Amino acid sequence: MQNSEYYISLEDKYGAHNYHPLPVVLTRGQGVHLWDVEGKRYYDFLSGYSAVNQGHCHPKIVDAFVGQSHQLTLTSRAFYNDKLGEFEKYITELLGYDKVLPMNTGVEAVETGIKLCRKWAYEVKGIPENEAVIIVCDHNFHGRTSTVISFSSDPDSKTNFGPFMRGFLTIPYNNPDALSEALKHKYIAGFLVEPIQGEAGVIVPDEGYLSTAKKMCEENRVLFIADEIQTGLCRTGKMLCCDHECVKPDILLLGKALSGGLMPVSAVLANDEIMLTIKHGQHGSTYGGNPLACVTAIASLAVLAEEKMADNAMALGEYFREELVKINSPFISAVRGKGLLNAIEIKSKDAEAAWKLCILLKEYGLLAKPTHGDKIRFAPPLCITKEQITECIGIIKKSLEKLEE
Ligand SMILES: Cc1ncc(COP(=O)(O)O)c(C=O)c1O
Repeated sequence: MQNSEYYISLEDKYGAHNYHPLPVVLTRGQGVHLWDVEGKRYYDFLSGYSAVNQGHCHPKIVDAFVGQSHQLTLTSRAFYNDKLGEFEKYITELLGYDKVLPMNTGVEAVETGIKLCRKWAYEVKGIPENEAVIIVCDHNFHGRTSTVISFSSDPDSKTNFGPFMRGFLTIPYNNPDALSEALKHKYIAGFLVEPIQGEAGVIVPDEGYLSTAKKMCEENRVLFIADEIQTGLCRTGKMLCCDHECVKPDILLLGKALSGGLMPVSAVLANDEIMLTIKHGQHGSTYGGNPLACVTAIASLAVLAEEKMADNAMALGEYFREELVKINSPFISAVRGKGLLNAIEIKSKDAEAAWKLCILLKEYGLLAKPTHGDKIRFAPPLCITKEQITECIGIIKKSLEKLEE
């Protein structure tokens, strides 16, 4: 094996420069830990942007994946396979929906949700063709396709990628009055929302926002579409973040941890009135619903329940935030989060302070990444223990002290 510089130089020379990674080259993962090519061990406080809720290389998920990969991996949907139906039964019964539509990446789930919402709007609600509008929120992050960036408010995501798709109306997040106004527009079909805005810096809306928004949508016959790709699957201390307010989305979007980090698996769930508007040949994906993904997803969901990961996230999230506040660092201007989806905001004259703190954290054995300059997300795998959280608080404290010097 070569050293870190070698692998970094390879990516720099031969790969597109569409990411700016922290300078660490990882080669192995187990549970809450990652190891670099020099053999140094780290706590993973990003969890692949919440794709690895179950911990790295979870043995039960790996066993399911490896077992199925010797049996059958891909049929396409031209034929039936003996795993897709089982996955569909498992996930719809678990989450209480009539039907599921399996896709691969998160943004494909979002695209599917948008298409499904529009189909329903034209064919059930009766909106005139091509007039359907979906309400979205400022500072959203729903992925990178050209439709989805059309309603992004982040210049990095958008600049010089136009022309953009119409049919979206942007309102401020966490603002029921703005939603109420927007719902007065003609031809509103859906409201697409992240229950917590992850990429924006873990922006947690006021209690009651989601349930109020859902009620308003119901009153206006508008579909409530929850993007739980980052917040779902126990990350925030419940199976879904919407569960905190007993809200059941009309269209539910899942991804990331649906495979425990082994492969891209996403899913869109809805009841028949909505899902059955898409007919044979009208939507799909070569890999969507492949037997390998189905078996991996069932194992990933089973592990979340068997290991009570929602309860662990809830209890340890609270403890983690309390301990972060106790550090009382002049560099921390805010601590927020739910369950184990957390962030701190860094206050400093130095615009690079958050990046520098992440470098120090790395030196002391913890990996985290800034988002939007001054925010750092702390989202470890949900199998982390209280003792490990305590050790990580020590690392964060030491790094903040070092930043002061
Ligand atoms: C809320 C949310 N939606 C959608 C996506 C897109 O998922 P993917 O990168 O798998 O396409 C992400 C990814 O970070 C996300 O956080």
